[in-house]
Amino acid sequence: MSEILILYYSKNGSTEALAREICQGVDSIKTATAKLRTVPRISTTCESIENDIPKNGPAYVDKKDLFDCDGLILGSPTRFGNMAAELKYFFDSTSNEWLNGALEGKPAGLFTSSQSQHGGQESTLLTMAIPLLHHGMLITGVPYSTKELSTTTGGGTPYGPSHVALNDSDEGLTQDEKVIAQTLGKRIATIALKLKPAHS
Ligand SMILES: Cc1cc2nc3c(=O)[nH]c(=O)nc-3n(C[C@H](O)[C@H](O)[C@H](O)COP(=O)(O)O)c2cc1C
Repeated sequence: MSEILILYYSKNGSTEALAREICQGVDSIKTATAKLRTVPRISTTCESIENDIPKNGPAYVDKKDLFDCDGLILGSPTRFGNMAAELKYFFDSTSNEWLNGALEGKPAGLFTSSQSQHGGQESTLLTMAIPLLHHGMLITGVPYSTKELSTTTGGGTPYGPSHVALNDSDEGLTQDEKVIAQTLGKRIATIALKLKPAHS
């Protein structure tokens, strides 16, 4: 069995919706299981973070999750073309995991949600890859054999799944966005199984 950690931050739910589609893709592979985790919100008025236990939704990520997983799929809202502070804050606390190779040699994928179509999804996805490269991860995108990459009129990029959330008129993920998200989940789960040592 291989475990894929889907770690995301979401304030308004769009990135979480993508995370749940990715979980479906992972879980569609019989010998893989998705572990959905989030990070606490950081206060905008002072340098404090939320309590240890979320009020609802998935549990907060534990550093041990990084050692335990066989692959990681990381999602963030686009914030000025970059990842949200909440996720950056978490990764800035992973020196010990970096020193001990918690994520080294494991496959990784990225996903995001932004308000506008040309509002920086690609720059967010590409910059999210940087800390994962430092951790020695193998970055994986979505291949163009996924026909929805060519038909989408919303989100979905070769760098990773995405959603374009248009203000209050947002109607949720499109069918193409869902398929692209599920495809990445399947792909990372399949690659993780191939890379996992036979004895573990
Ligand atoms: C501080 C801040 C910065 C943002 N920067 C961008 C941006 O650069 N481009 C964009 O299209 N949307 C931007 N947005 C909008 C969010 O990316 C968008 O609403 C996203 O879908 C939120 O995801 P969530 O529902 O998972 O929280 C920004 C929002 C905030 C609060």
